[in-house]
Amino acid sequence: MTTDPLANWNGDEMPLGDVCIPASDRGFLFGDAVYEVLRVYRGQPFLETEHLGRLRRSLSEIAIVGDIDRLATRMRETLRHSGIVEGMVYIQVTRGSAPRTHRFPQRDCRPNELIWAEGFDEDHYALPREQGAVAITAPDLRWKRCDIKSVNLLANCLAAQQAAEQGCIEALLVAEDGTITEASHNSAFAVRQGRILTSPLSPSILPGITRSLVNRLAARCDVTIEETSFRVADLPELDELFLTGTTSEVLPLVRVDGAPINDGRPGPVTRKLQQAYRDFLEEHLA
Ligand code: PDD
Repeated sequence: MTTDPLANWNGDEMPLGDVCIPASDRGFLFGDAVYEVLRVYRGQPFLETEHLGRLRRSLSEIAIVGDIDRLATRMRETLRHSGIVEGMVYIQVTRGSAPRTHRFPQRDCRPNELIWAEGFDEDHYALPREQGAVAITAPDLRWKRCDIKSVNLLANCLAAQQAAEQGCIEALLVAEDGTITEASHNSAFAVRQGRILTSPLSPSILPGITRSLVNRLAARCDVTIEETSFRVADLPELDELFLTGTTSEVLPLVRVDGAPINDGRPGPVTRKLQQAYRDFLEEHLA
């Protein structure tokens, strides 16, 4: 049995299924909205400051005036009232509801704020985290501001669906020049000759919160990270490949487009980082 997540819609708590989004909401009509997803471990939102910092930046980049402190208070309240221990929190802020015109509304438009807390099934990633997951490559069809965590995720959804139809967990997104930017909903990392490679921060990728944590964890593990892109053509020569994300954590990829990465098993650097992630989490929760 799944229970309806507990939501907070503009300050009012209700089951998520009872939230009514006005048809004139600009998030609904234009994708004029930004969002965050936080993982909740043992009732505590993980890396809250970092996620709220990115939300602040996303809002500012599209000129929505949001009150991060109020959102944070509501998020914690909703989470507490939900009683969720292992789960996630979703936060979305749209420019608000207004008569449909492309340009921003001139007045009478307050942001619509939606938050919900829901349980997370740890088992979903348990096996792929242990044994390694399979992925496909797909063209990166997204816009040129992927650094903003906007709700315009159609290209991501199409790629994720393509992966699912082929029995794969993710799609690695490939730019026109053959670079693997990231994945449909995860950051991507390669390991070659003892060094970790990942796309540098730019408008072509989301500045992943887990990506940034893994950068710090790599330093703790004495592994060098180079913010250098890798390409589809590099896949046959990689020692390891892995993804990071709020819900996936550190996820080894062992096969892409049907071809194994190295010996087709999760490698030692990925394993080290998985352990470092768990250790960091335990320290954080202590
Ligand atoms: N996705 N890249 C993209 C395109 C993403 O959508 C995400 C996160 C990531 C990983 O970022 P982080 O480590 O901050 O979760 C990278 C979220 C979880 C989602 O859309 O559900």
